[in-house]
Amino acid sequence: MRIVLGVGGGIAAYKVASLLRLFTEAGHHVTVIPTEAATRFVGVATWEALSGNPVTNSVFDEVHQVNHVRLGHEADLIVVAPATADLLARAATGQANDLLTNTLLMARGPVLFAPAMHTEMWQHAATRANVETLRGRGVAVLEPASGRLTGADTGPGRLPEPEAIFDAAMALAQGKPDYQLPLAGKTVTISAGGTREPLDPVRFLGNRSSGKQGVALAVAARNAGATVRLLAAHMEVPPPAGVEVVTVETALQLREAALAAAVDSDVVIMAAAVADFRPAEISGTKIKKRDDTADPVITLVRNPDILQELVELRDHAPEYGAARRGQLIIGFAAETGDGQGDVLAYAEAKLKRKGCDLLVLNHVGTDKVFGQDTNSVVILARSGAEPQLAAGTKTEVSAAIITRIGFELNRVSPRA
Ligand code: CTP
Repeated sequence: MRIVLGVGGGIAAYKVASLLRLFTEAGHHVTVIPTEAATRFVGVATWEALSGNPVTNSVFDEVHQVNHVRLGHEADLIVVAPATADLLARAATGQANDLLTNTLLMARGPVLFAPAMHTEMWQHAATRANVETLRGRGVAVLEPASGRLTGADTGPGRLPEPEAIFDAAMALAQGKPDYQLPLAGKTVTISAGGTREPLDPVRFLGNRSSGKQGVALAVAARNAGATVRLLAAHMEVPPPAGVEVVTVETALQLREAALAAAVDSDVVIMAAAVADFRPAEISGTKIKKRDDTADPVITLVRNPDILQELVELRDHAPEYGAARRGQLIIGFAAETGDGQGDVLAYAEAKLKRKGCDLLVLNHVGTDKVFGQDTNSVVILARSGAEPQLAAGTKTEVSAAIITRIGFELNRVSPRA
């Protein structure tokens, strides 16, 4: 595919270098057209080196080729990122004062804008009107992500992650009407990995969770346009780029982090393996073995059930819950069937007990009901909807879970 990548003059221009990489690595031919202002953030040399093509922003270069006509006509897809308030305004009013806006006027294929600006600018009536005008003309304008902006400010206006723009661009090029990212503007908190409960300064009680599932979910949520907060207990894999990471060790620390993060989250996914018990006492010094001491006995106490607490707070704490109506809470369960019941029955009982909206059942063990693919899960819903089977690689399963979450969010009283 021949892609024209227009780059606007915003600080997020540096992120577009990664987007360019994604396009070229997928085998596309990319011509970059930065605006004059964009070259103040990222130089022409970067775009030339990464695209392997000459780069200019002047209509007066290579005049004999009438560049804007050629580029506009030849492009199978035009992507503009970051689309600044100024660029949206110029495109909406059909201005033709540089190579990029000329090319946009010559475009015959799909056009995608990925906006990035301060929240006030994005919410300004002028920008809203420009976006509506462009969308009315059939131009695709992505919703920006929410989160940290250039300075200390946060809110909607962040450039969606490069992978998210890439996915939207490919969907648009394939003519899919739902190019809009399903979790755009949403904040998703995901716990991942296994907690560790200390016994003394060098020992802990832990579990075998690798964190891979939670990380794959974080990637899928990020690619769906969400602002992602990863509450990372012990993990064997690094956290992905483009997500905020809060590191925790114990179940109690995870509880604190989850309750704080839930305050402004549209979705909370508890994918972490949380220790149900912790040692009643943590020795301040290393527990020594001595010939004269008896075998030590470790007394355990129960950890709070974080998932259940999140649901209770949302549903039964009047003030806290009011602001969280429509929040979606998702639990995970690893179950094995046994003589007393089958896996689905156990999972359904757990869903009722925990009260979460969706429960993702990982079937472990030898039962063949769901095949032996360790990456097949069943998504159970509190609403009583038919259990949904999702199978494939961890990435595919995570994408299916995130798609389902997007569906549930838009169905269950969407929050403003
Ligand atoms: N969970 C939690 N807090 C805990 C324990 C678990 O939030 N203290 C969450 C997990 O993150 C997961 C879900 O609850 O999303 C299911 O965890 P699981 O350990 O399978 O459930 P239990 O209620 O402990 O059931 P079991 O008796 O099967 O261990």
